[in-house]
Amino acid sequence: MLAVLLFAAAADDAEEPRASLLFYKKLSQTHGHAVNKPFNVTLTVYNKGVGNAYSLIVADDNWKADKFRIIGGGNNFTLDFLNAGDTYEHEFVVKPIRKAWHRVRPAKMFYVDGDAGESTVSHLSNSLPDMRVIEKQDSLEEAAIMAGRVLTLNMIKTKQGWMAFAALALLAICAQLYFIGSAVLHKRRHLRALEDVKKL
Ligand SMILES: *[C@@H]1O[C@H](CO)[C@@H](O)[C@H](O)[C@H]1NC(C)=O
Ligand SMILES: *[C@@H]1O[C@H](CO)[C@@H](O)[C@H](O)[C@H]1NC(C)=O
Repeated sequence: MLAVLLFAAAADDAEEPRASLLFYKKLSQTHGHAVNKPFNVTLTVYNKGVGNAYSLIVADDNWKADKFRIIGGGNNFTLDFLNAGDTYEHEFVVKPIRKAWHRVRPAKMFYVDGDAGESTVSHLSNSLPDMRVIEKQDSLEEAAIMAGRVLTLNMIKTKQGWMAFAALALLAICAQLYFIGSAVLHKRRHLRALEDVKKL
């Protein structure tokens, strides 16, 4: 009796081997995103179940054209099947085109579980922290601003700040030159007057 039950349970298992998918989304960098600086998105699907998955459709529709361009690979892909124990990795390249805060949403996946599966299973990937895309600065300029920040105890942080500072410094130098210049002229006039007096 027990043997029959065990056999039935095993048969039942064999009849319905289930796929079980892990779906992972990853960015090649979590910060330091800048305009025109591409990064990669990797979507990984792993079937940790005992059954195969079929007709997989994966869409990562998170990179709209108002903020990003997809410049390598595609943000969507399909697979006819993913056997039990198999992993599939898909990578594409995204380039930010403007400064923004961006909510990184999970990617979506649909698949059919098992050969005889009739319904489609839907599945979301992990979610990721929001990303910040800054205006690209060349690294020399960045280093100069950083050095300036240290020198001025963090009071001047931006290029605009430095430009205002430079304008003030220039003004101060001009004023200085003017005073020195007039002092020299004054002295020269004085000497010339002395010489004139001596000649008399
Ligand atoms: C990004 O993807 C490209 C093309 O697939 C590859 O050449 C490059 O090494 C990848 N970069 C990173 C940081 O993974
Ligand atoms: C990717 O898939 C989504 C959802 O199915 C769709 O809206 C989008 O247009 C697709 N994008 C591309 C580039 O095929």
